Amino acid sequence: MAGSSQHAQWSSRWAFLMAAVGSAVGLGNIWKFPYVAGQGGGGAFVLVYLICAFMIGAPCLIAELSLGRRGQMSPVNSMTKIASEEGRSKAWSLLGWSGIVGAFIIISFYSLVGGWVLAYIGKAAMGFTGWTAATSESTFNSFIAEPFEPIVYHFLFMAITVGIVARGVQGGLEKAVEVLMPALFIILILLVVYSGVTGNFDAAIKFLFEPNFHKLTVNNILSAMGLAFFSLSLAMGSMMTYGSYLPKSVNIPRSAFIITASDSMVALLAGLAIFPIVFGYPGLEASKGPGLVFVTLPIAFGQMPGGTIVGPLFFALLGVAAITSSISLLEPAVSYMEERMGWNRIKTTATMGFAAFALGIFSSLGQEGNVLANVHIFGLSIMDLKDYIASNILMPIGAMFMMIFVGWFVSRKAMMEELAIQDKSFRVWYFLVRYVCPIAIAVIFANIIYATITG
Ligand code: PFF
Repeated sequence: MAGSSQHAQWSSRWAFLMAAVGSAVGLGNIWKFPYVAGQGGGGAFVLVYLICAFMIGAPCLIAELSLGRRGQMSPVNSMTKIASEEGRSKAWSLLGWSGIVGAFIIISFYSLVGGWVLAYIGKAAMGFTGWTAATSESTFNSFIAEPFEPIVYHFLFMAITVGIVARGVQGGLEKAVEVLMPALFIILILLVVYSGVTGNFDAAIKFLFEPNFHKLTVNNILSAMGLAFFSLSLAMGSMMTYGSYLPKSVNIPRSAFIITASDSMVALLAGLAIFPIVFGYPGLEASKGPGLVFVTLPIAFGQMPGGTIVGPLFFALLGVAAITSSISLLEPAVSYMEERMGWNRIKTTATMGFAAFALGIFSSLGQEGNVLANVHIFGLSIMDLKDYIASNILMPIGAMFMMIFVGWFVSRKAMMEELAIQDKSFRVWYFLVRYVCPIAIAVIFANIIYATITG
């Protein structure tokens, strides 16, 4: 990307795609998808997730990238600008705000989990030889129960993110992502093969792909939808900001499809790498929660030939994937503060990064066995609560209003111009954005509210 000024542009279509895929593919696919799908009971959950990603997520991604490219500014100012161009209320800028707030909440715990990944690079280099499910589980549990160590890694992760964002997301990173993302993909495939051969592949396939609808509650549907939004980096201003650096020549619908497809593919591969281990070794549970990837994969690395090389490499690449997402979480707030306060980029980035780091400390202390483990709000730990607010409330509601805005408050002509696709494809997208997606999201929420009221 060529700097951060309002008219900056990606150096090429490829650079944009890599950055957008980099934003989408991250901890959401490899850490969050397997554990949330595990808690959601597998099959039916995965199906709902995929439907949400392609039917709601992809159309929304097209809308968000188009708004960014039309607005050419940070999310708040882009929304204000487009709303006034279309003769609409300035209140639409609230959408930009909810993105900035949501992204800030997410990065505060995202960076903590990114820190866990960094810590595991070191652990993997020492070797996981001889680790059983029990050793793996107890090592992870005692690590997250430590009051200081995870916070040090959380700081390190945030410092790397700040360092990159402060410099502008240019040059080196674009280049690095082009090589490292495909490398992560290859290692994931290797892992799928290895854990497929040594673990229980049949059980994993059954668990992930055999829909068992009786396990599906409305809350599960909401989590699957929230996960799809999280994984595609939607409604948090990230994609809008990236869209604002996008040259007119780039075909947004095609890019959105490539982003959605590669993102879902990585999530499924992660599931296929992890669940054969879950079902192949006694003592592991699919519904284990946020520690799932950290407990299962070390067992595979400990046994495979060359595990002391593949293990650290995997965690290092996962760290890179996480950083290419976290920079996109920090960028919207930074670009807004630059426009609004006229602060310089380094000061803005450091301030925002430090504030998110401070907020993230509570997520660490709230882990099981840690000093704030007893703090539960609405029955959720601090990290789960933040995730719930961002993924299950701010993202779906933000996405719904964004689609309502694009579908009903921006002129059809403007959108046709922005998308430049065939009339028929446009009509399909427009129908999804105007009716199907907002109604689907509203119906899910209505059900949640009804279920909550009736207990
Ligand atoms: N999509 C990222 C992931 O799956 O890890 C996380 C993320 C990035 C969420 C940017 C939201 C966002 F705006």
